[in-house]
Amino acid sequence: MCGIVGYVGERDALPILLEGLKRLEYRGYDSSGVALPVRGRLKVHKKAGKIREMERTLPQGLSGTSGIAHTRWATHGAPTDLNAHPHVSNDGRIAVVHNGIIENYAALKTMLQQDGCVFASETDTEVFAHLIAKFYRDDLESAVRNAIHYIKGTYGIAVVASDRPDEVVCARNGSPIVLGIGEKEMFVASDVTAIIAHTQQVIYLADGDVAVLHADSYRTTNADAERVDKDVQEVDWRIEEIEKGDFPHFMLKEIHEQRESIERCFRGRVIPEFGTTRLGGLNLDRREFFDIQRLKMLACGTSFHAALVASYLFENLARVPCQVEVASEFRYKNPIIDKNTLYFAISQSGETADTLAALREIQRKGGRVLGVVNVVGSTIARESDGGIYIRSGPEIAVASTKAFTSQIVALFLFAVNIGRMRDMSPALGRHLVEELAAIPGKVGLILERAGEVERLARKYLDSRYVLFLGRGVSYPVALEGALKLKEISYIHAEGLPAAEMKHGPIALINEETPVVFVAPRDELFEKTLSNMEEVRARKGRILAITNEHPTDRRVEALAEDVIYVPDTHEALSPLLTVIPLQLFSYHAAVRLGRDVDQPRNLAKSVTVE
Ligand code: F6R
Repeated sequence: MCGIVGYVGERDALPILLEGLKRLEYRGYDSSGVALPVRGRLKVHKKAGKIREMERTLPQGLSGTSGIAHTRWATHGAPTDLNAHPHVSNDGRIAVVHNGIIENYAALKTMLQQDGCVFASETDTEVFAHLIAKFYRDDLESAVRNAIHYIKGTYGIAVVASDRPDEVVCARNGSPIVLGIGEKEMFVASDVTAIIAHTQQVIYLADGDVAVLHADSYRTTNADAERVDKDVQEVDWRIEEIEKGDFPHFMLKEIHEQRESIERCFRGRVIPEFGTTRLGGLNLDRREFFDIQRLKMLACGTSFHAALVASYLFENLARVPCQVEVASEFRYKNPIIDKNTLYFAISQSGETADTLAALREIQRKGGRVLGVVNVVGSTIARESDGGIYIRSGPEIAVASTKAFTSQIVALFLFAVNIGRMRDMSPALGRHLVEELAAIPGKVGLILERAGEVERLARKYLDSRYVLFLGRGVSYPVALEGALKLKEISYIHAEGLPAAEMKHGPIALINEETPVVFVAPRDELFEKTLSNMEEVRARKGRILAITNEHPTDRRVEALAEDVIYVPDTHEALSPLLTVIPLQLFSYHAAVRLGRDVDQPRNLAKSVTVE
């Protein structure tokens, strides 16, 4: 949620830190700060608000060849200048930036206060600065290592000392840290997007690791202080992918990228002649595949909605029982883990604390978990027993769009795979993969008509709340439409199974209530039409997403507005019906003057429980 960036090298550190921070701003953004060791002193500047606020107020002439920086999403303490990171020890020698939560910070604070430390902020992070200073003589690595012995909780940290301008020390436990290797320079960040403008050679630290960075060398050690030579990986994201280009917002860019991102997800993974798919990385042999009796998927937010879509595919197409659960609830049931159930952790970022905790709980009890993840090298990707990368490319906007459609495609590929090993006929398999191949072109057709959705978003802008209804595979799409609208436009919205409306929410319907029906012409279409009748009878205003029909005008007769999407196999319809909903929310939010890419209170990757 918060972002870390650090640098040590021969160049001026400040512009590199500021640029890195701006690339991380999407992760969390209520305050920010920098610390640079300059001529034996730490120069620290921090400010509540957007990074540009901090940048605007920077003291003149601040320059050095190393430093650390942070963008914060408040957990302990309000977003104020004092609570912003970096935090500095009382003697002014140590500065720390931290992502994560220190659970025993109250006890540590009392202990440090008894030693005479004076706390300047309300944050948990500040204990790190005082603890490291307590142990610091002239070996920063040892001081950090001693300090982390005391810490209970999660951390990704980067530390500098006033008298060591050529060194940055970092450590990780439960909160990501990635090192970037440059030419006579080293970088550290919580997320590769902060550093890929400078290098694509990276090292992901594991929990317990500590790293010491100098301009021309680095050293990594594990929790037992043993030297470990970690794999250097090549990041294949291009810099253009993390820039807006000609688009006004990342969200709009990412909506428009779905034609390519969907294609990228299935490219090379389909075997049309056998009507099946090929997925490397699952780490399941044939026997294990046959032994699977059930599937269970854990996820949060938009990823949860993608999992719900997939559960229809698994049961309907592949005939494997499948359950989906919100990851944050799963763990607290003392879940029963079954050896013939295959578990999935679905996460765009691969860092969501709730999903990660569910994964660990399953593994602790002997279950096998596959990750369905976007960010390569993320914690869920590394800790799962196998998995599928969704390959949607970096998703910067807080509101998830292209990851949703790629998650569905990845799970669809798995559903066809396991289905074909069971009862799915080759003919159905072939039909499904052919239909999938046609999806990118159909997404393109919807995007060509985006102007129509923009007009409708304006029309419904004054609504106090909006209902989204769908049946079957369109129900999770309705949930996703509602989530998108509320998170970026702040208009209240609720997604419901269309048939559930009559059990209570129908009381909300009057002549002012817009009701968005996700109603592709699938086998539940007739039933959804009856639900439209119920809304119309109460004067509700219907906006329908459906397929065009040459003669049947019943939807048009009931709905005030209709958005058409191309026909496809019903299992794939969410990949098309969701796109007008993403555009609808986007345009409503823009029209209302919201900060679309960085909506209030939200962060991209939620690394706290
Ligand atoms: C909504 C959104 C969130 C995330 C959720 C899970 O637009 O982005 O609901 O889907 O926080 O995040 P990941 O997929 O990274 O685990």
